[in-house]
Amino acid sequence: MEFSPSELKKAALALSERYRQGITPYLRTPQDRYAYLLTRLPATKAALQRVFQEIRGFSVQSMLDIGAGPGTSWLAAQEIWEGLKATLIERDNDFIEIGSKMTPSDRVRWVSSDVSKLEQFEMHDLVLFSYSWGEILNLALLERAWQAARQFLVLVEPGTPRGYQSMLKGRDFCIGQKGRVYAPCPHSNACPWEKTPEWCHFGVRLERSEGHRLAKEGSLGYEDEKFSYIIMSKQALPTPFSRLLKDPLRRKGHTLITLCSKNGIEQKTITKKDKEQYKRINKLNWGDKIINTV
Ligand SMILES: C[S@@+](CC[C@H](N)C(=O)[O-])C[C@H]1O[C@@H](n2cnc3c(N)ncnc32)[C@H](O)[C@@H]1O
Repeated sequence: MEFSPSELKKAALALSERYRQGITPYLRTPQDRYAYLLTRLPATKAALQRVFQEIRGFSVQSMLDIGAGPGTSWLAAQEIWEGLKATLIERDNDFIEIGSKMTPSDRVRWVSSDVSKLEQFEMHDLVLFSYSWGEILNLALLERAWQAARQFLVLVEPGTPRGYQSMLKGRDFCIGQKGRVYAPCPHSNACPWEKTPEWCHFGVRLERSEGHRLAKEGSLGYEDEKFSYIIMSKQALPTPFSRLLKDPLRRKGHTLITLCSKNGIEQKTITKKDKEQYKRINKLNWGDKIINTV
């Protein structure tokens, strides 16, 4: 199937707008799917790679992806966990056809189904909703997904207030099921930004391909993908840490930071006088962990 650049541009713009406004389903036409491959897939893959970094040290041998689209998660995860096997569930058969070509591995199993109709899921080390939870938002289904997670359940959503709210619903539900938050939060208490104008999200920078630039009408060679996420764990707890919730504001002689710690949100000023910490902070960016609270 071939589309003109203007058709793809139109579809990419409409897709971005639906993402911004949280209008689901995000993908509606064949043009949307191709625009997705050019513009959203690279951004989603970059966000997933960033999220998976948090748990790359664990032995994750199987992944269940719910609402897998064209199989973006596989492209990100197989670079991290050698020998990984994946089950990718998707209801859009056109996406499955495209995805099967992009995931030519006997370690990938595609399942064509509306997930809300599945009464249970097979056990997998990691269960993932990548930019699909906000479309599905079904707590009974999330419960089945949680039961199927041997180690981790991961939700990744657009980094918008709406994406954050969807992520929070999943977070609260899994905590109610005795889940522990592994990342990004350093605690499993209520989110301190809930009911404030702030929303917890992070960013990852990625290079744009030629096709991506054309479809987005953008002249920049890169874009920043904003995402909200949660990694819920059945057992593992990370070494205590704090996390930078914003890019540090680097001023002359001092740096201002916003952290989430086990005590909630903390704003701190690190001055040049505090040589060690100042040096350490100035190497860190938005989203990074600080192992011992500064
Ligand atoms: C925004 S796309 C994300 C695709 C992919 N996870 C990614 O990160 O690139 C959301 C996907 O969820 C799928 N989806 C939504 N509701 C679903 C359901 N009830 N059953 C199966 N798939 C579903 C849609 O068809 C779509 O492909």
